[in-house]
This record gives sequence, C-alpha cells and structure tokens, in this order.
Amino acid sequence: MSDEQTYNDLDQFSADVNYFRVEWKMFLSDPGRASALLHAARGVEVSRVLDIGCGSGQEMLPFVAKGALGFGMDVNPDAGKIGREMFEQKKLSERVNFLVASGTHIPFSEKSFEVLICRVALMYMNHQLALAEMSRVMRPESILILKYHSPYYYFRKFVDGLRYRYFNSAVHASRVICAGFIYQLTGKQFFGRLTAGGEIFQTRRTIRRALHNVGLKCRSEMPDSNRQTPSLVIVKE
Ligand SMILES: C[S@@+](CC[C@H](N)C(=O)[O-])C[C@H]1O[C@@H](n2cnc3c(N)ncnc32)[C@H](O)[C@@H]1O
Repeated sequence: MSDEQTYNDLDQFSADVNYFRVEWKMFLSDPGRASALLHAARGVEVSRVLDIGCGSGQEMLPFVAKGALGFGMDVNPDAGKIGREMFEQKKLSERVNFLVASGTHIPFSEKSFEVLICRVALMYMNHQLALAEMSRVMRPESILILKYHSPYYYFRKFVDGLRYRYFNSAVHASRVICAGFIYQLTGKQFFGRLTAGGEIFQTRRTIRRALHNVGLKCRSEMPDSNRQTPSLVIVKE
C-alpha cells in the first residue's frame, strides 16, 4: 500500500486505533524509512526528538533505538496508548513519553529538541501558530521533518470520493479546496464547519513563506516526498 492510498482513505480526525497500528506496521515493513530519517539527521547529535501529531510515534523509533529520548504529542489520547504499547514491544518504552497536547501549544521550553517530526498532521492545526511553536522548540542545529498536504491530495480525494461514492469524503475535500484557495489569496486560515474546521492545503510557495515567517527554511526533500504529500527537511534560517 502506498503512502497516498493510505492518506486518501482518511477523513479529518479519522485517525484511529487501527490506523495507528497500521502505520506502525508499515513503518517496520519498510526499513528505508528509518534509514532516511537517520540520514536526514546526519551530523546532528540527537538526544531528544519530538513528534507532533504523532499517532503511534513510529517515526521516532530509529532515534530512540539509537539512545535518544522520544516525546510524542497528539490531541487523540488513543495515540499515546498505542504508541506506548508499540515501544514496549521493542523494549524501549522507558525512553518515550506520550502527551495529549496540541501542536499549537507545545508544552516544552525553547530550544528543547534536535529533531522534530510532523507527519501528515499540520493540516489539522493553525499552521502559523504550529510552525511558530515548532521553530521555538528547535535547537539551532536541529531539523524538522515535515510531511504536509498539497492541493493534489485533496483534488484526488475529491475525484475518488465521487468515483467510489464516498460522498462525505468528496464534500470534505471540496471544502478544504475552497478554504485552501482562500488561504492562498488572503494568507488567512478560517475555522468553522463550512471551511472544514480550518483544514487547508499548502503549496510549495505558501509553505516556503509560512516557514520563512517563523525563521525556518527548507534544506532538502525526503525520499518519500511526492506530489500529494511533500516531505521536507527544514532547518533554522
Ligand atoms: C493522519 S494522522 C498522522 C499520525 C502520525 N503522524 C503518522 O504519520 O502516523 C494525524 C494525527 O494528527 C493528530 N492531530 C490533529 N490535530 C492535532 C493538533 N492540533 N495537535 C496535535 N495533534 C493533532 C490526530 O489526532 C492524528 O493522530
């Protein structure tokens, strides 16, 4: 199953226990993902890693296995439950902490982490607040690995929704597309039912601008980067 197929099956906040377990399994079945994460952080001495909107926190695993402390944050309490269970199976549960918290209020002091991860979770947050928080807790030489949603993700979700008669999914995608265009034109993210609860897409241009606003810039792309869900390695400017 490709990344894109998995994400296309998701609706907003539909990430559930089953999803968290599946993501963990998919991560373990593709060792290239762990190597890519370690490669992105080459040259950085990683003692603390934070995963924002972590799900089961599988992306922290390669760093935690090498001795770092892992912190997973998610607004869904089930995420931490499954995450703890998964790390326990690896005999690494003592090196991870899971918190119920929002990416827009990261409960750590500034410059706390060498590696930050935010994988397909930014779209549910207030982008500017969340990116500002990420920048605040990054140490000077740290990296942020950010996988976000482009308009192509929602176009495809809309078309698939119509084709396979997932009409709720198509309606949701169309709302996000409208809210995304408003964001492109005004730079504003509107929250409310009509605008899909604030969910928007980012283009390469707007993500670059949003990153620059909080003192961050893109250094490179991860191997799993694709047109629908680009995956960037981000550093301090
Ligand atoms: C699509 S899942 C991705 C989970 C995980 N990053 C992964 O790659 O498997 C999105 C996650 O973001 C979480 N989330 C949504 N809004 C959030 C917020 N404001 N702060 C932190 N996490 C949030 C959801 O609960 C969900 O677990």
